[in-house]
Amino acid sequence: MTARKRTAVLVSGRGSNLQALIDAARDPAFPAEIVLVISNVEAAEGLARAAETGIATKFISHKDFASRGDFDAAIDASLRAADVSLVCEAGFMRIHSEWFANLWAGKLLNIHPSLLPSFPGIRVHRQALDAGVKISGCTVHFLVPALDSGPIIAQAAVPVLEGDTPETLAARILVEEHRVYPEALRLAAEGKVTLENGKAVFR
Ligand code: GRF
Repeated sequence: MTARKRTAVLVSGRGSNLQALIDAARDPAFPAEIVLVISNVEAAEGLARAAETGIATKFISHKDFASRGDFDAAIDASLRAADVSLVCEAGFMRIHSEWFANLWAGKLLNIHPSLLPSFPGIRVHRQALDAGVKISGCTVHFLVPALDSGPIIAQAAVPVLEGDTPETLAARILVEEHRVYPEALRLAAEGKVTLENGKAVFR
C-alpha cells in the first residue's frame, strides 16, 4: 500500500465532520490519516474529540495576530511542521488570505452545507428556506480564494420538507455531510481528483 496522506483538519466548533473523517481514517486501508487538528477556538469541541483520539491538536487564536495573513502564516507553519499534505476544513469559521489559498490549492478541501453555487456564506439553511428550494444538500470543494466557490469534488442532495426550520434542515444535511466528506477525502488522497487549471479533474 502506498503511504497514507498525512492530513490536517481545521475546525472552529462542534467537529462532527472531523469525527466522520477520524472514523473513516480508523480503517488502515483508508488512504488518509488525520495527524493534526487545528482550531482558532480554544473551547472547540473538535479539539477535544481529536485529543480523545490521540491526535495532535493545536489552538491558534486569530486574535493573537495583527492581520489575516499573519494568522494564516502561523497555520501554514504548523501544517508544514506536521508534514501535512492535505488539509480539510470542517466548520472552520475564518476566511483565508489569498496567498494561503493559492499556496495550498489542490490540497485544501472545504465542506459547505448547501448545493453550491447556491447559498454561499453564512445562515445557509435560512437562505435555502427563504428561497423556497425543494432540494438542498452539501458540497465538498477545493478551497480557492473566493468564498465557498471552489471546484466541486462531491455533493449530496436532501429534500426540503414542508415545515422545515433551519435546524431540521441542517440536521438532515449533516447526515449527508458525514457520508460525503470522507468519500471526497478518499478521492483526493488517492489522487483520483485533482485541481487542474481551476477545475476538478476526475480519474
Ligand atoms: C457543517 O454544517 C459544515 O458544512 C459547515 O459548518 C458545519 C460544521 O459542523 N461548514 P461540524 O463542526 O463539522 O459539526
